[in-house]
Amino acid sequence: MNKILTASLDWVDTRFPLSKMWNEHLAQYYAPKNFNFWYYFGSLALLVLVLQIMTGIFLAINYKPDATLAFGTVEYIMRDVDYGWLIRYMHSTGASFFFIVVYLHMFRALIYGSYRKPRELLWIIGMFIYICLMAESFFGYLLPWGQMSYWGAQVIISLFGAIPWIGEDLAVWVRGDYVIADATLNRFFVYHVVLVPIILLGLAVVHIIALHEVGSNNPDGIEIKKNKDPETGIPRDGIPFHPYYTVKDIVGVTVFLILFSGVVFYAPELGGYFIEHNNFFPADPMTTPTHIAPLWYFTPFYAILRAVPDKLLGVIAMGSAIFVLFFLPWLDRSPVKSIRYKGLIFKLALALFIISFFGLCYLGMEAPTPTKTWFARLFSVIYFGFFLLMPWYSKWDKTKPVPERVTD
Ligand code: HEM
Repeated sequence: MNKILTASLDWVDTRFPLSKMWNEHLAQYYAPKNFNFWYYFGSLALLVLVLQIMTGIFLAINYKPDATLAFGTVEYIMRDVDYGWLIRYMHSTGASFFFIVVYLHMFRALIYGSYRKPRELLWIIGMFIYICLMAESFFGYLLPWGQMSYWGAQVIISLFGAIPWIGEDLAVWVRGDYVIADATLNRFFVYHVVLVPIILLGLAVVHIIALHEVGSNNPDGIEIKKNKDPETGIPRDGIPFHPYYTVKDIVGVTVFLILFSGVVFYAPELGGYFIEHNNFFPADPMTTPTHIAPLWYFTPFYAILRAVPDKLLGVIAMGSAIFVLFFLPWLDRSPVKSIRYKGLIFKLALALFIISFFGLCYLGMEAPTPTKTWFARLFSVIYFGFFLLMPWYSKWDKTKPVPERVTD
């Protein structure tokens, strides 16, 4: 049996670099030996990406992107298709978990300075992934053709109308009609199931290639490639990704699946945070819901939009809140990468940023009141202040000396 396997592998290897790729990216990819909890989320993001594509394929088999049928086909999936309810809940829960995982993944980069040289491009590719992910969930959310699908899309697309001169025409072009209608549903379906997933998959591959070119950062923010064994050329603080981190990642996957199943089986709507109650009513263009808000992962940016009294300036502020993240590698001027060796100013700034991000997330879900709007303004100022003042406070901050080798 072994002989047959070796011969088959040889046969493939002379025609395709299978063993070479296995070694380059797994068995002989040396990752820092001090990865911690925060390093689970890259592999988990990959897992969720695969999960979303698999469940999405099964949903698409039974779904019809037609304004008169869409809502009914989702109900059909939930009630009549074998295990349709499971597939649908896995997909809707997967969307929220994708954002949880990606936000934690990005937060890890923030605390360990993983976006700094030489990983700027890796970070930028990540940002493109993040934007695609937002587009993917926005398009997908219209498909059940519920009240929130309809009115959420109506609110967001009408924002294009704020752009001077071309805005209204642009909004009509995006919708394919003067209001959200069948034409919009059809094109959003195509974007959601074909266009964006292809881009996402491509970007995820490019993300890993870029990561393996520069090598992983670590909780100490030390470049392990700078200290190699002269004989073997292997970083002294590195261990082969496989089997060490493949096995470690299985632990992360297990815990993740337990939490994921908990939500899928016991609280798939999660009190309206993962699927909004209003979306169990079919889209009705004649009845505007009293309160329209996007799902939780968009609400920090939605709160920034509403905090600005002018529509165009609000759209600009909302866009800038995401755009500013692209520049993070150049805004951070600290001599050290990791939070472990940063000083009090950075930690304080980070704490304020976390509070304002969660604050905005909460406020974006709520109906606006004058007090809430003022809080949203305060948190928006802190949000932007964290990034725009970084070139100064990261330089003034009193840092600690970074050790030569990674710490365990
Ligand atoms: C589909 C979404 C994504 C997937 C599948 C993915 C996958 C991965 C994987 C497998 C790793 C290596 C393991 C790890 O460090 O956790 C990684 C590292 C990294 N990712 Fe992502 N990622 C995604 C989204 C993002 C986003 C949105 C950003 C930032 C905007 C980002 C920035 C980074 C950075 C900076 C690293 C290097 C971290 C370090 O070495 O400390 N990724 N990614």
